[in-house]
Amino acid sequence: MSAPGEFLSDIKEIRRRARQHLSEGAVTQNYGGKAKDAVALLNHAVATEIVCVLRYKFHAVCATGIASEAVKEEFAQHAKEEEQHLDLLAERINQLGGKPNLNPDGVSSRAASEYAEGENLIDMIKEDLVAERIAIETYREMVRYFGDRDPTTRVLLERILAQEEEHANDMHDLLVTHDGRPVLEK
Ligand SMILES: [Fe+2]
Ligand SMILES: [Fe+2]
Repeated sequence: MSAPGEFLSDIKEIRRRARQHLSEGAVTQNYGGKAKDAVALLNHAVATEIVCVLRYKFHAVCATGIASEAVKEEFAQHAKEEEQHLDLLAERINQLGGKPNLNPDGVSSRAASEYAEGENLIDMIKEDLVAERIAIETYREMVRYFGDRDPTTRVLLERILAQEEEHANDMHDLLVTHDGRPVLEK
C-alpha cells in the first residue's frame, strides 16, 4: 500500500492509464487476475445456477402430499433467488468482457450441482439440501480464489454464498419438520 503522498502522485499515472484500452471497459490495468480465467470460473457458477433454478422449479410444481403447499412455496422462492444469482453472475461476466454461457447444450456437465427430481417430498428436500451444500463449497472456494485479485467479484460471490447458506438452512429445517427425525448420515 503506498503512502498518501505517493498515492496522490500516482493519480497522474492512473489518469493516463485510464485513457488507454477503453475497449476493456471496467477491466483496468490493475485488475489483479486474468479476466479470461474469471469468466471461465463464473460460467461454471452460471451453469450451477441454471441447474438449481430448473430443479427448484420442478420441485415447486411436482411436490405432492400432505403439507406440500408450504414446501412448494419455499421451492418456488428459492427458484427465484437462484435466478437472481444467475442474473448477477451473467452481469459480472459481461463487465469482465466475457459472454455468459447460457447455451443449454452441456449445462449439466458444466454445473457443479445435479438435476435430481426426487421420488417424493422428502427426497426432493434432501436433493436440494445436497445441491445447496455443493454450491456452498464451490462458492467458498471461488471467494478464496478471487480474494484480493478481484474484490468486486469476491463481494458478489460472498453475497450469493450467504444466500446459499440460508437456502441450505431452510432445506435442513424442512427436512427435520417433514421427516420427523434428525438428519442421519447415509
Ligand atoms: Fe444460487
Ligand atoms: Fe441456493
